[in-house]
Amino acid sequence: MTTKVRISGGRIIDPASGRDEIGDLLIEGKTIVKEFSQPGKVKDFNAGGCLVTPGLIDAHCHLREPGREDKETIFTGARAAAVGGFTTVVAMANTNPPVDCQAVASYVRKKSAKAVIEVKTVGAVTKGLAGNSLSEMFELYEAGVVGYSDDGEPVQDSALMRKAMEYSLATNLPIISHCEDKRLSARGVVHEGYYSTVLGLPPIPAAAEEVALARDVILSELTGAKLHIAHVSTAGSVEIVRWAKSRGINVTAEVTPHHLVLTDQCLANYDTNLKVNPPLRSDADRRALVAAIIDGTIDAIATDHAPHTLEEKEQEFETAPFGIVGLETTLPLLLSELAGEGLSMLKLIEKLTIGPARIFGIEGGSLAVGSQADVLVLDHKAKVEVDVNKFYSKGRNTPFQGWKLKGQVKWLFKEGKLIVENGRLKD
Ligand code: DOR
Repeated sequence: MTTKVRISGGRIIDPASGRDEIGDLLIEGKTIVKEFSQPGKVKDFNAGGCLVTPGLIDAHCHLREPGREDKETIFTGARAAAVGGFTTVVAMANTNPPVDCQAVASYVRKKSAKAVIEVKTVGAVTKGLAGNSLSEMFELYEAGVVGYSDDGEPVQDSALMRKAMEYSLATNLPIISHCEDKRLSARGVVHEGYYSTVLGLPPIPAAAEEVALARDVILSELTGAKLHIAHVSTAGSVEIVRWAKSRGINVTAEVTPHHLVLTDQCLANYDTNLKVNPPLRSDADRRALVAAIIDGTIDAIATDHAPHTLEEKEQEFETAPFGIVGLETTLPLLLSELAGEGLSMLKLIEKLTIGPARIFGIEGGSLAVGSQADVLVLDHKAKVEVDVNKFYSKGRNTPFQGWKLKGQVKWLFKEGKLIVENGRLKD
């Protein structure tokens, strides 16, 4: 017999339909229903005082498999994502070997089938992420990738990027651009400004991102290709995306929680857990990112979950790898740290659900009747303290250790199955 679930009395927030009201949500089997098809036993979940939203979707994370299973695996990353409220994640292609051919894409897909949530994968734009020749983009599409990206090793050759965009039209998948002109960022490790000077660390100018971003939106206009901008981090980038959208260019953009919450001022103690690419920027940049979420310039908030080993992060600032883990901290961080910045709950949830779903054209992100029952019941007032020792992720590289925040997953349903309760996995 199919299971029947009633989630009652919660504040239902469904940005896809604009719904924000107290009510009940019914699940029968794997689907959200208006009413149960037959009488019978119903499992009741009292969501009084909680938010009921679509399961979250992460547009950008690094699960390191294949190649660096010591940092994370699809299995552990998916578990971390689930306790963070995510029912779908999109994993980047910069594994080892990278997802640049059908064999690797199929391997990742096979592993993903065993994960507790839905794990989608991105395919590489170029072979070996080397920026010289295109990957087998159509074969990757046939193997199920949802977009193309060389992420941290972005394509520097404009003619090759144009060709990649032209090829992407055949599959209608987005090119995901980590916008960085490598000649401008050079060996930089922090945002170029007052703090890079004071700390004596090699700088990355905002222009390294903005020059590359301007190129890519111009190429997107030329080719008509779908372009998604990863981790926008500067006020100038926001202006360029806004301009591109106003011209009708086929562009979307994401921002990370750490760029919304932290600035380069935090770097004073040289904590390598704050070393991330793009780097933490100024407070003016941070405020521009928040404003861009509110006015719709930014379409999604994505974790850019980037696990690294303790040994790697314990090096000097200049040699430690870039990256911050985010799957288990994103929700409480946003709920706690962005309160009072003019962001409505509907808008915030939109950027974590239907926003990313639309970028990739993937299922999920909606509580409409007939949708798959990926449902998050969120106790947004529950007090939590970030504790890396309780992480399901193998990655411990967070600057938020010990932060006292609010917001915990009360229940998470993946296709109708209860997988998380009170911030812990069911099994
Ligand atoms: O901080 C980052 N870490 N930025 C990237 O672009 C890549 C990522 C990683 O793979 O560790």
